[in-house]
Amino acid sequence: MLRRLHHEQPASFAFTPANRAWAEAQMTKYPEGRQASAIIPLLFRAQEQEGWLTKPAIEHVADMLGLPYIRALEVATFYFMFQLAPVGSVAHIQVCGTTSCMICGAEDLIAVCKRKIAAEPFALSADGKLSWEEVECLGACANAPMAQIGKDYFEDLTEESLEKLIDRLAAGEAPQPGSQVGRFSSEPASGLTSCAETAGGKESANGSVALALVVGDGVKRIDGTEVALRAPWQSGGRLGPIGMMGTRPMTAAQRAEEKAAAEKAATEKAKAEKAAAEKAAAETAQAEKAAAEKAAAEKAAAEKAQAEKAAAEQAAAEKAAAVQAAAEKAAAEKAFAEKAAAEAAEAEKISKALVAAQTGTALEAEAAPAASAPEAAAPEASPAAEAAPARKARGPVVVEVEAGEGVPPQGLDAPRDGKADDLQKMEGIGPVLERICHDLGVFHFDQIAQWGAEEVAWMDTNLKGFRGRVSRDKWVAQAKIIVEEGLERFLERAKTNDY
Ligand code: FES
Repeated sequence: MLRRLHHEQPASFAFTPANRAWAEAQMTKYPEGRQASAIIPLLFRAQEQEGWLTKPAIEHVADMLGLPYIRALEVATFYFMFQLAPVGSVAHIQVCGTTSCMICGAEDLIAVCKRKIAAEPFALSADGKLSWEEVECLGACANAPMAQIGKDYFEDLTEESLEKLIDRLAAGEAPQPGSQVGRFSSEPASGLTSCAETAGGKESANGSVALALVVGDGVKRIDGTEVALRAPWQSGGRLGPIGMMGTRPMTAAQRAEEKAAAEKAATEKAKAEKAAAEKAAAETAQAEKAAAEKAAAEKAAAEKAQAEKAAAEQAAAEKAAAVQAAAEKAAAEKAFAEKAAAEAAEAEKISKALVAAQTGTALEAEAAPAASAPEAAAPEASPAAEAAPARKARGPVVVEVEAGEGVPPQGLDAPRDGKADDLQKMEGIGPVLERICHDLGVFHFDQIAQWGAEEVAWMDTNLKGFRGRVSRDKWVAQAKIIVEEGLERFLERAKTNDY
């Protein structure tokens, strides 16, 4: 049969204090250097403690005996007495299936096991309390068929008696081992044929059964406590007749002492496990807290870096915008200054022309041609020339009239009601042009609104220094809006050059 370690193993193994003492005592039975000989009893004690032989238990025993693990594993896997997988928590029934037992009904016993425990050997019953297997000859052939349960033999079994045994085990009872048909030992089933008067007459059970009844540990863990056994030299007195591994029964006081020690060990173990669990939980919590803090710090650093980057970008953008605005402002100021200078120069020029006209003198630039050209003093008669004297008659001459270029606008001698319109409200008319208009007899918006193409052409031609300003700045259109829609509406439309 292939025997391997179970696929699920506990994390560790350690003997209870009592079993540890027992195991160490077993080792003293052998000469120095021969402690490896104690491997079978130690492995069996480990199995009794745990219910089955685990890998950590095998390694623990190997460590105690100074053996390589493989040597202990070889022993554990060779003997079928060692259970390498979990078996029933109350009992594991080993049914002999060898010749004598087979002839006497072992197959019927196996059928009972299949029916009442599990269909397959080594499988646990539904409640986990029982399991079974078929084993080779257990040396009780004279009492066939038989089965070993725990440490005890149950002999002369039948289907019925095995069923009752199984039921009692499942119910937590400890059935009496030995012959199940009342035989004292292995005498003939039909009764003694010799020494009938003395043999077994004074005892109710043979020595093996009597010892088992006293020990009370035939069924593994039947009361849920540790198996309590002692080496014979620990208890003193004679060895039991067939006590396994040299054991013998303990007194009630010894049992109580072992039980207390076991309970103390269990309490300490639970306490240590709880402390370890709490320590692990605390370490886990601390690690999680540290991880969370680290993550938070990293997140804060990232956010800070991002904010600083954004601030730097914004500052750079603002600086660039400021530089650009400053440049634009400087350019505008320069353009404005240049324009103002040009306008001032133009105004000065016009002003000089006006002064010259009013005083009868000529500008230096214009004096020479005026003096050398007789036609300048006596221009040819034309509509424009004809209108010019009228202006001269009423006041200072502000323009030079060039014949053939339109018709001068019809002027007034003075503003109506003595109050002229504020012609500077119109786009393109400043103080100089307003004064020129006044000199031409133009004081009101409605006068300009009535100008036709001829008047506009005359004005554009004769306003030296302002040539083309009348048509370019749409004086007539502006004046019409003022007359028809009012000055306030015109000023509103003028914001968008809507004229
Ligand atoms: S054949 Fe069963 S005990 Fe020997």
